[in-house]
Amino acid sequence: MKVLVVGGGGREHAMAWALARSSKVDEVIVAPGNAGTALEPKVRNAQTGAGDIPALVQLARREEVDFTVVGPEAPLVAGVVDAFAEGGLLCLGPTQKAAELEGSKAFAKSFMVRHGIPTAAHEAFADLEAACAYIREVGAPVVIKADGLAAGKGVTVAENLDEALLATEGMLSGDAFGDAGRRVVVEERLVGEEISFIALVDGEEVVSLASSQDHKPRDDGDSGPNTGGMGAYSPAPRVDQVLYRRIMDEVIEPTVSGLAAEGRHYTGFLYAGLMVTPEGEPKVLEFNCRLGDPEAQPLLMRLDSDFADLCLAALKGELASADVRWDDRAALGVVLAAGGYPGPTTKGLPIEGMDQPLPPDTHLFHGGTAFDEEGRVVTNGGRVVCACGLGATVADAQERAYRLVGQIHWDGVFYRRDIGYRAIGR
Ligand code: AMP
Ligand code: GLY
Repeated sequence: MKVLVVGGGGREHAMAWALARSSKVDEVIVAPGNAGTALEPKVRNAQTGAGDIPALVQLARREEVDFTVVGPEAPLVAGVVDAFAEGGLLCLGPTQKAAELEGSKAFAKSFMVRHGIPTAAHEAFADLEAACAYIREVGAPVVIKADGLAAGKGVTVAENLDEALLATEGMLSGDAFGDAGRRVVVEERLVGEEISFIALVDGEEVVSLASSQDHKPRDDGDSGPNTGGMGAYSPAPRVDQVLYRRIMDEVIEPTVSGLAAEGRHYTGFLYAGLMVTPEGEPKVLEFNCRLGDPEAQPLLMRLDSDFADLCLAALKGELASADVRWDDRAALGVVLAAGGYPGPTTKGLPIEGMDQPLPPDTHLFHGGTAFDEEGRVVTNGGRVVCACGLGATVADAQERAYRLVGQIHWDGVFYRRDIGYRAIGR
């Protein structure tokens, strides 16, 4: 089989790597990919941007791929799956209507209210006066969210009223996030432990993936500015049998059946970002219509069964009989970011240590990397690579991952030194 992966980050490298491991897959094409996917056996890059939907359809046709898997949310929200379906092509991911669950926070919140899915109390506003009056009424701390896609930057957890009002003004004026911020969701701040729960859905049937947890804040001890994720691990020991059941019964199943009832049948990866309250109740912070990044990297390292078969089962509505097995070992990934991340970063810095052999039970997934004219691997984004390790326990996996981290260096490289600390402390 020939498979196309859409995207060019660490998640897409992990997807391409997992697909290439299948004995049934002869070749994986990644559009546009990165230096890591270019170097992966059986994988090659195509110079097609993840946002150019007509060009992606053409590419899939020209290359006669058997199916396509989409990594990032933007093409899904823009309707890439619908365009492929119109062309008679198999493409794993939700349709535009189903992807609105991530594409509009206001839609997601009202959907959750309609279907009794636990989430923070909220109101949505397009009018500044009304938003500010409401914020003054509820008081701080309070959370302000841009309605549309804002590349993971559209959320302000405001500690005081000034911060909340400033964020709201920035969004509603269009200055902060353009049209994505023309509507805001103001919501209650939840406290507890954040976990990521990811399932694969075939329109009806749901298969939950192994549990995982990411570290969103930039600095050690989960402090500092919010990022797209500085590291992740699987399994997440917080998700015991009781919590697992509650998440499936109270969040995932009602979401999939609720969407179907509203004519938005969901196919693809469904990611619920959850806050587990001190009382042990899972509440939805956000839905994503895709695999998490960096959660996908350790998760897919643990997948023992065939990833291509699993994707095809979801595409064909056959998940009920799919073979899904996980390595008993734990996996952990540490993101190595460029200096300045999550702010602006310098591109084109040569990465040292790429030619050294990988330590056993590790893999280096590239995110923001490229080749320079001399063919060297250089930095090309904020989250540059994710060093992953497998081990008997999360602590063992952590040790292996950091051994690989120690081999990689570039000017200004930055990473957390405590990825997995909650799981190890438990
Ligand atoms: P989101 O993109 O909605 O997941 O928001 C990004 C991050 O903001 C989350 O990972 C949480 O850490 C935080 N966050 C979002 N909503 C809330 C909330 N209602 N209460 C507390 N923290 C939140
Ligand atoms: N790691 C969080 C996300 O992918 O949204």
